[in-house]
Amino acid sequence: MSVTTAPASTAPTTHLPATLPARVLGWGMFVPERVVTNHDLEQTLDTSDEWIVERSGIRERHRVGPDDSTASMAIEAGRAALDKARVPASRVDLLVLATTTPDQVTPATAATVQHALGTRGAAFDLNAACSGFVHAFHVAAACLRTPGIDHVLVIGADRFACYADPAERTTAVLFGDGAGALLLGAGSDDPAGPGLIGVDLGGDGSAVSCLEVPPDQPYLVMDGREVFRRATRGIVESCTAALERAGATAADVDVFVPHQANLRIIEAAANRVGVPMDRVVVDIDRYGNTSSASIPIAISEAARDGRIKPGSIVLACGIGAGMSWASALFRWGA
Ligand code: UT7
Repeated sequence: MSVTTAPASTAPTTHLPATLPARVLGWGMFVPERVVTNHDLEQTLDTSDEWIVERSGIRERHRVGPDDSTASMAIEAGRAALDKARVPASRVDLLVLATTTPDQVTPATAATVQHALGTRGAAFDLNAACSGFVHAFHVAAACLRTPGIDHVLVIGADRFACYADPAERTTAVLFGDGAGALLLGAGSDDPAGPGLIGVDLGGDGSAVSCLEVPPDQPYLVMDGREVFRRATRGIVESCTAALERAGATAADVDVFVPHQANLRIIEAAANRVGVPMDRVVVDIDRYGNTSSASIPIAISEAARDGRIKPGSIVLACGIGAGMSWASALFRWGA
């Protein structure tokens, strides 16, 4: 189910200038050790491996154990990104942690991560559910224009599985836990250099009740079909808006990294955006929906495998509770 290759030619595309220069210097990911397979879920739920695979594309997911937390996963992913970049934590001027599941109400979980890693400067959480990482990526690229901010560590980490009622088969099968991170460095003024080429951020607060953990309840309440419909349409509209703003078309996209919520959503949206599936990163079979972590995990795996390489034009799109959505078209470069 995973993706093969990006096109061979990734020569700089000068007709797509980066409006927010930024280099991805390093990437990393972390998933907890514990694996929960569909067959494990069959033991406690009226479900089947066949149904879950056919309706969602998920085969297994990783879930936190007693020693894991949102902070501990974010720390592992962040450290991996710093190691990959060979940049010491002391040179990070800003840490943005996209998460829907902070470890405590206050302070921000980013503070714990900052302390453990030894980054300097600001550290804050950003909650935009499954679109949080792309929002954070945009914030990071914009902040790199601020004098004194030369390196930004952007992390997406979530342990959302505990908010899915283990007795409710529609939601219990969907979520996994994990974290992913990118270290961004300042870019250059070269229009063919790496950075953000086009962005679309948006939300529709009238749809809050489609997908929420209500204030007085312990678990997620979701209208699955409505979310499915809105997510598919939202990805298409948001990606199209980001491409149009950039003066790009789907043909310019080397690698498409959609939020991993349902394989059927991914396939329908990619088809309508116009990106063939051999350019789409899919890992939902192994991780399920990891909320804020899904996009940086997918990017990290694609970069590790060489599917994303210097010069690649990457389109990332997240959509989720709120509803909120965010798309970013960017040129990868180190
Ligand atoms: O980041 C955003 C987070 N959420 C999402 O992205 C969710 C988006 N929605 C979805 O992915 C899909 O709607 C689901 C995977 C949640 C459900 O798939 P569906 O094809 O929309 O199924 P459905 O809700 O229409 O239910 C069809 C049937 C129902 O049975 P009846 O009423 O036809 O007898 C459900 O009770 O499938 C049943 N069903 C299940 N059966 C076996 C629902 N969940 C399960 C299950 N195992 N786990």
